[in-house]
Amino acid sequence: MAKAWGGRFQKETAPLMDDFHSSIHFDYRLAEEDIRGSIAHAKMLGDTGIITRSEADTIIIGLKRILEKVKAGQISWDPSAEDIHMNVEQLLIREIGELGKKLHTARSRNDQVALDTRLYLRTEISALQTIFQKLFQVLLKLAEREQATIMPGYTHLQRAQPVLLGHHLLAYFEMFRRDYQRLEDCLKRVLISPLGSGALAGTGIPIDREKVAAELGFSGITGNSIDGVSDRDFVIEFISVASLIMMHLSRFCEELVLWSSMEFGFVEMDDAYSTGSSIMPQKKNPDVAELIRGKTGRVYGNLMAILTVMKGLPLAYNKDMQEDKEALFDTVDTVKGCLTIFIPMLDTLSFNRARMLEATKDGFLNATDLADYLVKKGLPFRTAHAVVGKLVKYCLDNGKRLEDLSLKEFQKASSLIGEDIYQFLKIEKVVEVRNSVGGTGFAQVRSEIEKASSWLESIKHYNKG
Ligand code: ARG
Repeated sequence: MAKAWGGRFQKETAPLMDDFHSSIHFDYRLAEEDIRGSIAHAKMLGDTGIITRSEADTIIIGLKRILEKVKAGQISWDPSAEDIHMNVEQLLIREIGELGKKLHTARSRNDQVALDTRLYLRTEISALQTIFQKLFQVLLKLAEREQATIMPGYTHLQRAQPVLLGHHLLAYFEMFRRDYQRLEDCLKRVLISPLGSGALAGTGIPIDREKVAAELGFSGITGNSIDGVSDRDFVIEFISVASLIMMHLSRFCEELVLWSSMEFGFVEMDDAYSTGSSIMPQKKNPDVAELIRGKTGRVYGNLMAILTVMKGLPLAYNKDMQEDKEALFDTVDTVKGCLTIFIPMLDTLSFNRARMLEATKDGFLNATDLADYLVKKGLPFRTAHAVVGKLVKYCLDNGKRLEDLSLKEFQKASSLIGEDIYQFLKIEKVVEVRNSVGGTGFAQVRSEIEKASSWLESIKHYNKG
Protein backbone atom coordinates (compact mmCIF):
# COMPACT_ATOMS: atom_id res chain seq x y z
CA MET A 1 0.00 0.00 0.00
CA ALA A 2 1.42 3.39 -1.01
CA LYS A 3 2.15 5.65 1.90
CA ALA A 4 -0.03 8.70 2.41
CA TRP A 5 3.17 10.72 2.72
CA GLY A 6 5.03 8.86 -0.07
CA GLY A 7 5.21 11.66 -2.69
CA ARG A 8 8.82 12.65 -2.11
CA PHE A 9 10.07 9.10 -1.60
CA GLN A 10 11.54 6.94 -4.34
CA LYS A 11 11.69 3.66 -2.48
CA GLU A 12 9.23 1.59 -0.44
CA THR A 13 9.85 1.50 3.29
CA ALA A 14 11.60 -1.63 4.46
CA PRO A 15 9.14 -4.15 5.98
CA LEU A 16 11.29 -4.10 9.11
CA MET A 17 10.75 -0.35 9.29
CA ASP A 18 6.96 -0.75 9.06
CA ASP A 19 6.99 -3.13 12.01
CA PHE A 20 9.24 -0.87 14.00
CA HIS A 21 7.52 2.46 13.72
CA SER A 22 3.88 1.41 13.35
CA SER A 23 1.76 2.07 16.39
CA ILE A 24 -1.50 0.59 15.15
CA HIS A 25 -1.06 -2.55 17.27
CA PHE A 26 -1.67 -0.39 20.33
CA ASP A 27 -3.18 2.91 19.21
CA TYR A 28 -6.13 1.11 17.60
CA ARG A 29 -7.51 1.71 21.09
CA LEU A 30 -7.96 5.35 20.13
CA ALA A 31 -10.21 4.48 17.18
CA GLU A 32 -13.42 5.88 18.66
CA GLU A 33 -11.75 9.05 19.85
CA ASP A 34 -10.01 9.49 16.51
CA ILE A 35 -13.27 9.19 14.61
CA ARG A 36 -15.18 11.47 16.96
CA GLY A 37 -12.41 14.06 16.65
CA SER A 38 -12.54 13.76 12.87
CA ILE A 39 -16.31 14.18 12.81
CA ALA A 40 -16.01 17.41 14.77
CA HIS A 41 -13.18 18.59 12.51
CA ALA A 42 -15.15 17.79 9.34
CA LYS A 43 -18.18 19.59 10.71
CA MET A 44 -16.10 22.69 11.37
CA LEU A 45 -14.57 22.50 7.86
CA GLY A 46 -18.10 22.46 6.46
CA ASP A 47 -19.45 25.19 8.75
CA THR A 48 -16.61 27.56 7.92
CA GLY A 49 -16.90 26.91 4.18
CA ILE A 50 -13.40 25.42 3.93
CA ILE A 51 -15.13 22.47 2.29
CA THR A 52 -18.79 22.49 1.24
CA ARG A 53 -21.45 21.46 3.67
CA SER A 54 -22.45 18.52 1.52
CA GLU A 55 -18.81 17.38 1.39
CA ALA A 56 -18.67 17.61 5.15
CA ASP A 57 -21.91 15.63 5.44
CA THR A 58 -20.62 12.85 3.21
CA ILE A 59 -17.38 12.67 5.19
CA ILE A 60 -19.31 12.53 8.45
CA ILE A 61 -21.62 9.78 7.19
CA GLY A 62 -18.56 7.80 6.09
CA LEU A 63 -16.87 8.29 9.47
CA LYS A 64 -20.00 7.22 11.32
CA ARG A 65 -20.17 4.05 9.25
CA ILE A 66 -16.56 3.30 10.13
CA LEU A 67 -17.34 3.95 13.79
CA GLU A 68 -20.14 1.39 13.67
CA LYS A 69 -17.80 -1.15 12.13
CA VAL A 70 -15.15 -0.43 14.75
CA LYS A 71 -17.70 -0.97 17.51
CA ALA A 72 -18.85 -4.20 15.90
CA GLY A 73 -15.23 -5.39 15.71
CA GLN A 74 -15.41 -5.65 11.93
CA ILE A 75 -12.24 -3.75 11.11
CA SER A 76 -8.87 -5.32 10.59
CA TRP A 77 -6.17 -2.71 11.02
CA ASP A 78 -3.45 -2.30 8.43
CA PRO A 79 0.08 -2.07 9.87
CA SER A 80 1.43 -0.50 6.68
CA ALA A 81 -0.85 2.48 7.37
CA GLU A 82 1.22 3.05 10.53
CA ASP A 83 -1.20 4.33 13.04
CA ILE A 84 -4.86 4.79 13.92
CA HIS A 85 -5.06 8.20 12.26
CA MET A 86 -3.90 6.99 8.85
CA ASN A 87 -5.88 3.77 9.17
CA VAL A 88 -9.09 5.71 9.68
CA GLU A 89 -8.26 8.04 6.81
CA GLN A 90 -7.55 5.08 4.54
CA LEU A 91 -10.83 3.44 5.54
CA LEU A 92 -12.67 6.67 4.86
CA ILE A 93 -11.20 6.96 1.38
CA ARG A 94 -12.25 3.38 0.74
CA GLU A 95 -15.71 4.15 2.08
CA ILE A 96 -16.48 7.45 0.26
CA GLY A 97 -13.76 7.74 -2.38
CA GLU A 98 -11.55 10.74 -3.26
CA LEU A 99 -13.52 13.11 -1.05
CA GLY A 100 -12.08 11.32 1.97
CA LYS A 101 -8.78 12.96 1.11
CA LYS A 102 -10.20 16.34 2.16
CA LEU A 103 -10.61 15.34 5.80
CA HIS A 104 -7.01 16.08 6.72
CA THR A 105 -7.30 19.71 5.57
CA ALA A 106 -5.78 22.08 8.14
CA ARG A 107 -4.79 19.24 10.42
CA SER A 108 -1.70 17.25 11.25
CA ARG A 109 -1.38 13.93 13.00
CA ASN A 110 0.52 15.88 15.60
CA ASP A 111 -2.47 17.87 16.80
CA GLN A 112 -4.75 14.92 16.04
CA VAL A 113 -2.94 12.46 18.32
CA ALA A 114 -2.82 15.00 21.13
CA LEU A 115 -6.57 15.47 20.75
CA ASP A 116 -7.30 11.74 20.67
CA THR A 117 -5.25 11.10 23.79
CA ARG A 118 -7.10 13.85 25.62
CA LEU A 119 -10.47 12.46 24.54
CA TYR A 120 -9.41 9.00 25.67
CA LEU A 121 -8.30 10.29 29.07
CA ARG A 122 -11.54 12.14 29.58
CA THR A 123 -13.48 8.89 29.23
CA GLU A 124 -11.10 6.95 31.43
CA ILE A 125 -10.96 9.56 34.17
CA SER A 126 -14.70 9.58 34.39
CA ALA A 127 -14.80 5.75 34.44
CA LEU A 128 -12.28 5.79 37.28
CA GLN A 129 -14.31 8.34 39.21
CA THR A 130 -17.34 6.08 38.96
CA ILE A 131 -15.30 3.17 40.34
CA PHE A 132 -14.05 5.42 43.13
CA GLN A 133 -17.61 6.18 44.16
CA LYS A 134 -18.19 2.47 44.75
CA LEU A 135 -15.02 2.31 46.78
CA PHE A 136 -16.17 5.24 48.91
CA GLN A 137 -19.51 3.54 49.53
CA VAL A 138 -17.88 0.31 50.67
CA LEU A 139 -15.35 2.12 52.87
CA LEU A 140 -18.09 4.15 54.50
CA LYS A 141 -20.26 1.10 55.06
CA LEU A 142 -17.37 -0.71 56.76
CA ALA A 143 -16.37 2.35 58.78
CA GLU A 144 -19.91 2.64 60.02
CA ARG A 145 -20.10 -1.05 60.89
CA GLU A 146 -16.71 -0.97 62.63
CA GLN A 147 -17.10 2.39 64.34
CA ALA A 148 -16.89 0.81 67.77
CA THR A 149 -14.28 -1.85 66.99
CA ILE A 150 -11.14 -1.19 69.00
CA MET A 151 -7.78 -2.21 67.60
CA PRO A 152 -4.16 -1.31 68.22
CA GLY A 153 -2.89 1.67 66.26
CA TYR A 154 0.77 1.45 65.26
CA THR A 155 3.77 3.62 64.78
CA HIS A 156 6.97 1.96 63.55
CA LEU A 157 4.74 -1.14 63.36
CA GLN A 158 4.91 -1.21 67.17
CA ARG A 159 1.68 -1.05 69.12
CA ALA A 160 1.15 2.59 70.00
CA GLN A 161 -2.34 3.66 71.07
CA PRO A 162 -5.73 2.07 70.59
CA VAL A 163 -7.80 3.35 67.69
CA LEU A 164 -11.14 2.49 66.18
CA LEU A 165 -11.09 0.27 63.12
CA GLY A 166 -13.62 2.67 61.61
CA HIS A 167 -11.12 5.47 62.10
CA HIS A 168 -8.36 3.46 60.48
CA LEU A 169 -10.59 2.74 57.47
CA LEU A 170 -11.49 6.40 57.19
CA ALA A 171 -7.80 7.24 56.90
CA TYR A 172 -7.95 5.43 53.55
CA PHE A 173 -11.13 7.30 52.70
CA GLU A 174 -9.13 10.54 53.02
CA MET A 175 -6.36 9.25 50.75
CA PHE A 176 -8.77 8.08 48.09
CA ARG A 177 -10.77 11.29 48.35
CA ARG A 178 -7.60 13.24 47.53
CA ASP A 179 -6.99 10.89 44.60
CA TYR A 180 -10.51 11.51 43.35
CA GLN A 181 -9.98 15.26 43.61
CA ARG A 182 -6.63 14.98 41.85
CA LEU A 183 -8.37 13.19 38.97
CA GLU A 184 -10.87 16.01 38.82
CA ASP A 185 -8.08 18.56 38.74
CA CYS A 186 -6.13 16.64 36.11
CA LEU A 187 -9.27 16.59 33.97
CA LYS A 188 -9.26 20.41 33.84
CA ARG A 189 -6.02 20.35 31.90
CA VAL A 190 -7.04 17.36 29.80
CA LEU A 191 -10.13 19.15 28.52
CA ILE A 192 -8.24 21.72 26.43
CA SER A 193 -8.29 21.19 22.69
CA PRO A 194 -4.97 21.23 20.82
CA LEU A 195 -6.67 20.79 17.43
CA GLY A 196 -5.70 23.57 15.06
CA SER A 197 -2.08 23.59 16.22
CA GLY A 198 -1.35 21.83 12.94
CA ALA A 199 2.06 20.24 12.66
CA LEU A 200 3.50 22.84 15.02
CA ALA A 201 2.90 26.34 13.68
CA GLY A 202 -0.87 26.60 13.29
CA THR A 203 -2.46 26.88 9.87
CA GLY A 204 -3.12 29.47 7.19
CA ILE A 205 -6.53 28.00 6.50
CA PRO A 206 -9.27 29.95 8.32
CA ILE A 207 -10.38 27.26 10.79
CA ASP A 208 -12.54 27.79 13.87
CA ARG A 209 -10.74 26.13 16.75
CA GLU A 210 -13.28 27.13 19.37
CA LYS A 211 -16.06 25.47 17.43
CA VAL A 212 -14.33 22.10 17.32
CA ALA A 213 -13.44 22.38 20.99
CA ALA A 214 -17.04 23.17 21.95
CA GLU A 215 -18.37 20.41 19.71
CA LEU A 216 -16.18 17.91 21.56
CA GLY A 217 -17.11 19.21 25.00
CA PHE A 218 -13.74 20.75 25.79
CA SER A 219 -13.62 23.82 27.97
CA GLY A 220 -11.04 25.71 25.93
CA ILE A 221 -8.23 25.60 23.38
CA THR A 222 -4.46 25.54 23.79
CA GLY A 223 -2.83 28.95 23.46
CA ASN A 224 0.42 28.06 21.71
CA SER A 225 0.62 25.76 18.72
CA ILE A 226 4.14 24.54 19.50
CA ASP A 227 3.09 23.60 23.02
CA GLY A 228 -0.20 22.23 21.73
CA VAL A 229 1.55 19.43 19.85
CA SER A 230 4.51 18.84 22.14
CA ASP A 231 2.80 18.83 25.52
CA ARG A 232 2.31 15.50 27.25
CA ASP A 233 2.08 16.97 30.76
CA PHE A 234 -1.49 15.76 30.98
CA VAL A 235 -0.36 12.18 30.41
CA ILE A 236 2.35 12.54 33.04
CA GLU A 237 -0.07 14.17 35.44
CA PHE A 238 -2.55 11.37 34.99
CA ILE A 239 0.08 8.67 35.51
CA SER A 240 1.30 10.48 38.64
CA VAL A 241 -2.23 10.53 39.99
CA ALA A 242 -2.47 6.84 39.10
CA SER A 243 0.81 6.22 40.92
CA LEU A 244 -0.59 7.82 44.06
CA ILE A 245 -3.75 5.74 43.76
CA MET A 246 -1.64 2.62 43.47
CA MET A 247 0.54 3.70 46.40
CA HIS A 248 -2.57 4.08 48.55
CA LEU A 249 -3.98 0.76 47.41
CA SER A 250 -0.62 -0.85 48.00
CA ARG A 251 -0.35 0.41 51.57
CA PHE A 252 -3.85 -0.84 52.27
CA CYS A 253 -3.01 -4.18 50.69
CA GLU A 254 0.20 -4.45 52.69
CA GLU A 255 -1.84 -4.04 55.86
CA LEU A 256 -4.31 -6.66 54.74
CA VAL A 257 -1.49 -9.08 53.98
CA LEU A 258 -0.08 -8.46 57.46
CA TRP A 259 -3.43 -8.55 59.17
CA SER A 260 -4.39 -11.83 57.52
CA SER A 261 -1.22 -13.52 58.76
CA MET A 262 -1.52 -15.85 61.71
CA GLU A 263 0.71 -13.48 63.68
CA PHE A 264 -1.90 -10.73 63.47
CA GLY A 265 -5.08 -12.66 62.76
CA PHE A 266 -7.09 -9.42 62.49
CA VAL A 267 -8.79 -10.24 59.26
CA GLU A 268 -9.83 -13.13 57.09
CA MET A 269 -10.28 -12.79 53.36
CA ASP A 270 -13.24 -14.33 51.70
CA ASP A 271 -12.48 -17.63 49.95
CA ALA A 272 -13.63 -16.04 46.69
CA TYR A 273 -10.69 -13.61 46.84
CA SER A 274 -7.97 -15.94 48.13
CA THR A 275 -5.93 -18.75 46.68
CA GLY A 276 -4.36 -21.96 47.96
CA SER A 277 -0.99 -23.60 47.58
CA SER A 278 -0.17 -26.38 45.13
CA ILE A 279 1.80 -28.21 47.80
CA MET A 280 0.68 -27.02 51.26
CA PRO A 281 -2.93 -28.03 51.74
CA GLN A 282 -3.48 -25.72 54.70
CA LYS A 283 -2.57 -22.48 52.88
CA LYS A 284 -4.87 -19.58 52.18
CA ASN A 285 -3.00 -16.78 50.49
CA PRO A 286 -3.95 -13.11 50.04
CA ASP A 287 -2.99 -13.05 46.35
CA VAL A 288 -5.25 -10.17 45.37
CA ALA A 289 -3.65 -7.86 47.90
CA GLU A 290 -0.17 -9.03 46.97
CA LEU A 291 -0.79 -8.57 43.25
CA ILE A 292 -2.12 -5.06 43.71
CA ARG A 293 0.96 -4.27 45.79
CA GLY A 294 3.09 -5.75 43.02
CA LYS A 295 1.32 -3.98 40.17
CA THR A 296 2.08 -0.66 41.84
CA GLY A 297 5.60 -1.18 40.53
CA ARG A 298 4.35 -1.33 36.95
CA VAL A 299 2.54 1.97 37.25
CA TYR A 300 5.59 3.67 38.83
CA GLY A 301 7.58 2.18 35.94
CA ASN A 302 5.19 3.75 33.45
CA LEU A 303 5.60 7.11 35.15
CA MET A 304 9.37 6.88 34.97
CA ALA A 305 9.15 5.76 31.35
CA ILE A 306 7.12 8.75 30.17
CA LEU A 307 9.07 11.24 32.27
CA THR A 308 12.27 9.89 30.74
CA VAL A 309 10.87 9.89 27.20
CA MET A 310 9.97 13.57 27.52
CA LYS A 311 12.98 14.90 29.36
CA GLY A 312 15.33 15.53 26.46
CA LEU A 313 12.91 16.31 23.67
CA PRO A 314 13.41 19.48 21.68
CA LEU A 315 10.25 21.26 20.60
CA ALA A 316 7.91 20.42 19.01
CA TYR A 317 6.61 16.92 18.12
CA ASN A 318 9.10 14.06 18.07
CA LYS A 319 8.31 10.47 17.27
CA ASP A 320 9.59 9.50 20.72
CA MET A 321 6.24 10.76 21.97
CA GLN A 322 4.49 7.79 20.40
CA GLU A 323 5.96 5.89 23.36
CA ASP A 324 3.47 7.63 25.66
CA LYS A 325 0.57 5.41 24.67
CA GLU A 326 1.52 1.98 25.91
CA ALA A 327 2.52 3.47 29.25
CA LEU A 328 -0.78 5.28 29.44
CA PHE A 329 -2.96 2.34 28.36
CA ASP A 330 -1.19 -0.03 30.71
CA THR A 331 -1.63 2.43 33.57
CA VAL A 332 -5.34 2.83 32.89
CA ASP A 333 -5.84 -0.95 32.63
CA THR A 334 -3.82 -1.63 35.76
CA VAL A 335 -5.46 0.97 37.98
CA LYS A 336 -8.95 0.09 36.81
CA GLY A 337 -8.29 -3.62 37.17
CA CYS A 338 -6.84 -3.24 40.67
CA LEU A 339 -9.61 -0.99 41.96
CA THR A 340 -12.27 -3.20 40.45
CA ILE A 341 -11.14 -6.29 42.33
CA PHE A 342 -10.03 -4.46 45.45
CA ILE A 343 -13.57 -3.23 46.14
CA PRO A 344 -15.31 -6.62 46.48
CA MET A 345 -12.27 -8.05 48.26
CA LEU A 346 -12.55 -5.26 50.82
CA ASP A 347 -16.30 -5.60 51.02
CA THR A 348 -16.10 -9.30 51.88
CA LEU A 349 -13.37 -9.14 54.54
CA SER A 350 -14.25 -10.49 57.94
CA PHE A 351 -12.62 -8.66 60.78
CA ASN A 352 -11.77 -10.54 63.94
CA ARG A 353 -12.93 -8.00 66.50
CA ALA A 354 -12.06 -10.12 69.55
CA ARG A 355 -8.54 -10.62 68.31
CA MET A 356 -8.10 -6.91 67.62
CA LEU A 357 -9.34 -5.98 71.06
CA GLU A 358 -7.14 -8.61 72.66
CA ALA A 359 -4.13 -7.10 70.92
CA THR A 360 -4.75 -3.77 72.65
CA LYS A 361 -4.27 -5.36 76.05
CA ASP A 362 -0.53 -5.98 75.80
CA GLY A 363 2.00 -3.35 74.88
CA PHE A 364 1.05 -0.55 77.28
CA LEU A 365 -1.23 1.21 74.82
CA ASN A 366 -2.57 3.27 77.73
CA ALA A 367 0.83 4.59 78.82
CA THR A 368 0.28 8.00 77.18
CA ASP A 369 -2.99 8.26 79.09
CA LEU A 370 -1.24 7.73 82.40
CA ALA A 371 1.15 10.53 81.46
CA ASP A 372 -1.80 12.74 80.39
CA TYR A 373 -3.45 11.97 83.76
CA LEU A 374 -0.37 13.29 85.57
CA VAL A 375 -0.34 16.35 83.33
CA LYS A 376 -3.92 17.09 84.34
CA LYS A 377 -2.75 16.87 87.96
CA GLY A 378 -0.17 19.55 87.23
CA LEU A 379 2.99 17.66 86.32
CA PRO A 380 4.92 18.94 83.27
CA PHE A 381 4.48 16.46 80.41
CA ARG A 382 8.19 15.64 80.08
CA THR A 383 8.36 14.76 83.79
CA ALA A 384 5.17 12.71 83.52
CA HIS A 385 6.68 10.88 80.54
CA ALA A 386 9.69 9.87 82.65
CA VAL A 387 7.51 8.73 85.58
CA VAL A 388 5.43 6.52 83.29
CA GLY A 389 8.53 5.22 81.52
CA LYS A 390 9.83 3.98 84.86
CA LEU A 391 6.47 2.37 85.67
CA VAL A 392 6.48 0.60 82.30
CA LYS A 393 9.94 -0.75 83.03
CA TYR A 394 8.72 -1.91 86.46
CA CYS A 395 5.76 -3.68 84.78
CA LEU A 396 8.03 -5.33 82.19
CA ASP A 397 10.30 -6.63 84.97
CA ASN A 398 7.36 -7.96 86.96
CA GLY A 399 5.18 -9.30 84.13
CA LYS A 400 2.37 -6.83 84.78
CA ARG A 401 0.17 -4.41 82.86
CA LEU A 402 -0.21 -0.83 84.06
CA GLU A 403 -3.78 -1.47 85.17
CA ASP A 404 -2.57 -4.45 87.29
CA LEU A 405 -0.50 -2.19 89.55
CA SER A 406 -1.77 -1.53 93.05
CA LEU A 407 -2.42 2.02 94.16
CA LYS A 408 0.62 1.67 96.44
CA GLU A 409 2.84 0.75 93.52
CA PHE A 410 1.46 3.70 91.53
CA GLN A 411 1.98 6.11 94.39
CA LYS A 412 5.55 4.99 94.85
CA ALA A 413 6.12 6.40 91.36
CA SER A 414 4.04 9.52 91.94
CA SER A 415 1.95 10.68 94.84
CA LEU A 416 -0.33 12.50 92.36
CA ILE A 417 -1.90 9.21 91.32
CA GLY A 418 -5.23 8.46 92.95
CA GLU A 419 -7.89 5.72 92.90
CA ASP A 420 -9.49 7.25 89.79
CA ILE A 421 -6.50 6.18 87.67
CA TYR A 422 -8.01 2.75 86.95
CA GLN A 423 -10.89 4.39 85.18
CA PHE A 424 -8.54 6.29 82.86
CA LEU A 425 -6.51 3.23 81.95
CA LYS A 426 -9.45 1.27 80.52
CA ILE A 427 -9.01 0.80 76.78
CA GLU A 428 -12.53 2.06 75.96
CA LYS A 429 -11.82 5.19 77.97
CA VAL A 430 -8.47 5.66 76.26
CA VAL A 431 -10.31 5.70 72.92
CA GLU A 432 -13.25 7.77 74.15
CA VAL A 433 -11.16 10.67 75.45
CA ARG A 434 -9.42 11.23 72.11
CA ASN A 435 -12.06 13.66 71.10
CA SER A 436 -9.90 16.28 69.44
CA VAL A 437 -11.22 17.07 65.97
CA GLY A 438 -10.20 14.26 63.63
CA GLY A 439 -9.21 12.03 66.57
CA THR A 440 -10.23 8.45 67.17
CA GLY A 441 -12.81 9.15 69.90
CA PHE A 442 -16.20 7.47 69.28
CA ALA A 443 -17.96 10.80 68.84
CA GLN A 444 -15.31 12.10 66.45
CA VAL A 445 -15.48 9.01 64.28
CA ARG A 446 -19.26 9.28 64.13
CA SER A 447 -19.03 12.86 62.96
CA GLU A 448 -16.26 11.93 60.49
CA ILE A 449 -18.59 9.31 59.00
CA GLU A 450 -21.37 11.86 58.69
CA LYS A 451 -19.14 14.40 56.98
CA ALA A 452 -17.77 11.78 54.61
CA SER A 453 -21.29 10.63 53.71
CA SER A 454 -22.48 14.10 52.85
CA TRP A 455 -19.37 14.68 50.75
CA LEU A 456 -20.09 11.44 48.91
CA GLU A 457 -23.68 12.54 48.31
CA SER A 458 -22.44 15.89 47.00
CA ILE A 459 -20.12 14.35 44.41
CA LYS A 460 -22.84 11.97 43.26
CA HIS A 461 -25.20 14.87 42.62
CA TYR A 462 -22.44 16.87 40.99
CA ASN A 463 -21.67 14.00 38.64
CA LYS A 464 -25.30 13.53 37.74
CA GLY A 465 -25.78 17.24 37.11
N1 ARG B 1 1.42 7.62 15.81
C1 ARG B 1 1.92 8.90 16.11
C2 ARG B 1 2.04 9.08 17.64
O1 ARG B 1 1.43 8.36 18.30
C3 ARG B 1 1.02 9.95 15.58
C4 ARG B 1 1.69 11.24 15.25
C5 ARG B 1 2.63 11.04 14.14
N2 ARG B 1 3.17 12.26 13.67
C6 ARG B 1 4.21 12.28 12.83
N3 ARG B 1 4.62 13.43 12.45
N4 ARG B 1 4.83 11.20 12.45
O2 ARG B 1 2.76 9.93 18.12
